[in-house]
Order: sequence, then C-alpha cells, then structure tokens
Amino acid sequence: MNTKHFTSHEELSQSAAEHIFMQIKQGIGEKGSFVLGLATGASPKRTYEILIKLLGVSELNLENLHTFNLDEYHPMWQGHKRSYFQEMYKCFWKPLNEVNKTFEIPNGHILNGESPKPDLECRIYEKMIERAGGIDLQVLGIGINGHIGFNEPDSEEDSRTRMIDIAEETRESNKQYFEDNLDKVPEHGLTMGIGTILEAREILMIVTGENKKEIFEKLKKLKKPNVSIPASFLLIHQNAVIYSDV
Ligand code: F6R
Repeated sequence: MNTKHFTSHEELSQSAAEHIFMQIKQGIGEKGSFVLGLATGASPKRTYEILIKLLGVSELNLENLHTFNLDEYHPMWQGHKRSYFQEMYKCFWKPLNEVNKTFEIPNGHILNGESPKPDLECRIYEKMIERAGGIDLQVLGIGINGHIGFNEPDSEEDSRTRMIDIAEETRESNKQYFEDNLDKVPEHGLTMGIGTILEAREILMIVTGENKKEIFEKLKKLKKPNVSIPASFLLIHQNAVIYSDV
C-alpha cells in the first residue's frame, strides 16, 4: 500500500494537514465545492488543528465546504460530552468557523446517534453524501483490531452505512473516554460502510502511535483485502495513502 513514513507525529500531522488543505483549495478553485470525510479520535486531532489554521489564514471561501463524519455511537445523545458530535463541534466545526466565518457549522454532518430509526438515518446519510457530490477526500484512523469507522472485523467490502455491534476490544479501548467504565460505553454504533468509504475519491489513513504497530505490521504483509482487517480494503482503492509514524 502507498505509505508515507514520518519520524514524528508532528511531522505527519503537518504534512497530512498541508495535503488536505491543498486538495480543498484545488477543489474549491476548480469546482467551487469540496466534501471532506472526517474521523474522530486521537489520530487526526493534530492534523485538524493545523488544517484549521491553514484554512483560517487562507481566506478561502468555504461556504461550499461540507464535512461528513464516519460514525457515531448509538444510542448517543448529541449533547453527551463523549458523543462524536460534541468532539467534532469542539475540535473542528466551531474552531474552523471562528477562524473562517465562511464555513457554516450546519455544513458539518454526522450520523444522529439519537435517531429512533437508525436504519432510516443511515439511508438518509448515504443520500446526503450522494447529493453533496460524493466524498472528495476521506480521512481515516485505524483501530487496534484494524477497524475503520466502526467497521469491525468481518465487515464486508460492499457494506453500506448501517448500525453495528461495537467489538469488545474496541469498547475496551474506548472506555478511557467513559470514566474507565465499560458499562458506560455504548454497545452499538452507526457507521459508513466499507463500500461507502471506498467510494471516496481519495483516502488518507493516519497510522500513529506505539499501540498501532502490531496491526500495521499485519496490514503491511497483506497483498489483498482480508475481512479480518477491515483497513486492508484500502488495497483495492485507486487513490489511498497511509501517513504513518510507526
Ligand atoms: C472514529 C473512527 C475510528 C478511529 C479508530 C482509531 O471516528 O473512525 O475508526 O479512527 O478507532 O482511533 P484513535 O485515533 O483514537 O486511535
């Protein structure tokens, strides 16, 4: 897989942010709009901070920039401090709007973890992505079990946005955000499917930190996708790149 290697997280984040910025600038310059797919979590946090600074000083017109997040817990109240909605509001939509008023916060989209009809919610989300013109660039992190979004091992190549059971190891790894109490970590999530993610015109996956070493070693050995490591589906994408510091 096409991999760019960096010697530090900072260097990785700087380079990823500059690349995403250039793609947004080009998209807006050429077609007047850009659709950015976002992940939550620790991996892209610094990239987002740098990207927001770049978009702030750029004076680019961002009124046609839309963002779509990969996933959300379910059931999850949007006002809950651990909802992905809150995370994105605090670390992306609001700070971006503060430095560049042309970005409108309602153009940041995320699956509604409160929806009483999750299947309908997922279908509507797919339609919204389609109507926005499809995702130009999707940012991904990787789980210690190889998941992307909440697509846990055994997710299929053609899977679409849907409700899933969150794997125990993912809940274990996320309990740090829920007062270390596994019972507080939701058992389900809504996530873009592998098929949905693969439709993005470009994919940039960030692999960072010691705890991702083992899964990255396994991923690197694969020559073709294997359902036990969902991130391996990137192997069949024409324009996917991994930014790694491990
Ligand atoms: C979250 C998401 C997840 C994370 C993954 C890694 O929206 O898509 O797949 O990217 O769990 O999380 P971090 O970056 O916190 O290690």
